[in-house]
Amino acid sequence: MHVTHAILTRRSHKVFRGTPVPDADLRHLLELAIWAPNHKFTEPWRFTVLPKRSFAELWDAVRAAADTDKARSKLHKLKDIVDGAGAAIAVRQVRSPDHPERDHEDYAACAIACQHIQLGAWERGWASYWTTSPGFVGGSLTQFWQTAEDEALVGVIFLGEPVLDMPAVRRNSVDSVAVWL
Ligand SMILES: Cc1cc2nc3c(=O)[nH]c(=O)nc-3n(C[C@H](O)[C@H](O)[C@H](O)COP(=O)(O)O)c2cc1C
Repeated sequence: MHVTHAILTRRSHKVFRGTPVPDADLRHLLELAIWAPNHKFTEPWRFTVLPKRSFAELWDAVRAAADTDKARSKLHKLKDIVDGAGAAIAVRQVRSPDHPERDHEDYAACAIACQHIQLGAWERGWASYWTTSPGFVGGSLTQFWQTAEDEALVGVIFLGEPVLDMPAVRRNSVDSVAVWL
């Protein structure tokens, strides 16, 4: 798959068929992630890999973290995602609170690592979506994802076999967002 095609056809998917993503594919995605550009070779990313066989632990943690009526009322939607997904990868950023510019750049580098994971997955036929939803990353879930004191959770990427053809969401035109000098 050419990179242009991967970029243009990758979509966020939340409905998956339940097929486990093999460990070899997950390792491949990490190998792509670590080639993201990063200023001064800080390599600020850390990953927590959750294969399908460990999803029972995720669901226990998600349920335990839902500690308000509002959060509990949304659990059924999260359950559908957990049941369908075939793996998840949490991307964590090592923070540099004393160096705001580095911290800013390192978040960007981690975001690119996330995109490498999503595009690499798509190339192998795995759909994905990146979530920062409190139901998956909030409260006690930061510990579940092994986020250290000096780290921030950039997001969790769920991966799985797609069920639906996801239509592209409209993008504003290049002309409306670009100036040429
Ligand atoms: C930093 C970040 C956080 C996101 N968090 C969520 C989320 O919590 N829930 C969700 O449904 N989608 C989330 N998304 C996915 C976006 O909603 C999605 O990329 C957007 O709708 C565009 O659709 P596409 O990915 O199919 O192009 C997130 C994306 C990014 C970059």
